[in-house]
Amino acid sequence: MADKTSEIKQSFMAELEAVNEISQLEAIKVKYLGKNGLITELMKDMKSLTPEEKKSFGQAVNVLKNEVSEIIAEKTEELKHKAILEEINKMQDFDISTPANTERGSYHPITLVQRQCEAIFKSMGFTVEEYSEVVTDYECFEALNIPKHHPARDMQDTYYLENGQLLKSHTSATQNAIYKKYKDNLVNNGVPIKAIFPGRCFRNEATDACHENTFFQMEGVMVDKNISISNLIFFMKTMLSEVFKKDIKVRLRPGFFPFVEPGFELDISCLICGGEGCPSCKHSGWLELCPCGMIHPEVLKAGEIDPEEYTGFAFGLGLTRLAMMKYGVKDIRDLNSGNLKSLSQFTDDE
Ligand code: DAH
Repeated sequence: MADKTSEIKQSFMAELEAVNEISQLEAIKVKYLGKNGLITELMKDMKSLTPEEKKSFGQAVNVLKNEVSEIIAEKTEELKHKAILEEINKMQDFDISTPANTERGSYHPITLVQRQCEAIFKSMGFTVEEYSEVVTDYECFEALNIPKHHPARDMQDTYYLENGQLLKSHTSATQNAIYKKYKDNLVNNGVPIKAIFPGRCFRNEATDACHENTFFQMEGVMVDKNISISNLIFFMKTMLSEVFKKDIKVRLRPGFFPFVEPGFELDISCLICGGEGCPSCKHSGWLELCPCGMIHPEVLKAGEIDPEEYTGFAFGLGLTRLAMMKYGVKDIRDLNSGNLKSLSQFTDDE
């Protein structure tokens, strides 16, 4: 019987020699110390022994078991240490004393077009407003003439928060706050409301080359006495020719939005395919860029402005789409990808 313990020890030591990975060591541990392991099995052989033999053999098996456990524990430590050293060796190509990359970072293409648009509208006397991304149901829908259960809500698959607030599904959600902020100045001092408010919007979209669940819009409003559709068209055309630095083919179609009356879709000829049709423009040759219209009287009322006295226009420019057109980005998903290779190639050409 004593032979058996030393036999097992020998075979264990021989197998251990060949081990150089933790996984191999695990396998050996199971083979010798596992439930049906060689050493565990030895115990089962004791049944046939006399009480005297049992005592000495039991002791020998225990000694073997302890020895093997200890050796395995030591070897585990050794292998872990070795793995760390290997990692360090791999890192030797990395020279910590290399000077930092001193090249300047770059702006995201959406930031670039946003800043350009802001500059253009500021030069035309618009203020640039900031507003939060979490808004109330009232701001996002009710104040915009979209009551609860109105089918127009279906156009925007909205992310609601548990507290009843929601992630802004369009920048129009800021309109109400802007009217209230500037109405006194309009009424008491005759200063027209001219404001733009860029912002990130969220919708539960099935994503494809032209749809994303997170995108940017830039809303603009102008309210004063006698504002008409010609004012709207003038500002839109001026803005687009400034952004693209050339005359852009546009078309105006009727469009329904509960917060404007009449409402329009302003499309631009697709700059990626030149109007031929491609996946970015859903093969139509046109891209919806800027829905707009004359502000609905109910919306002005909700903003505490008298629609009998004042009129205005509003537009919701798709900033993300504008960036895609301007920089020839074919897939909207690239813009949120964080892929520096594709995102860092754009420069401000102002
Ligand atoms: N908020 C609308 C949307 O995201 C876009 C829009 C349409 C904004 C017409 C406007 C407008 O200001 O007049 O679907």
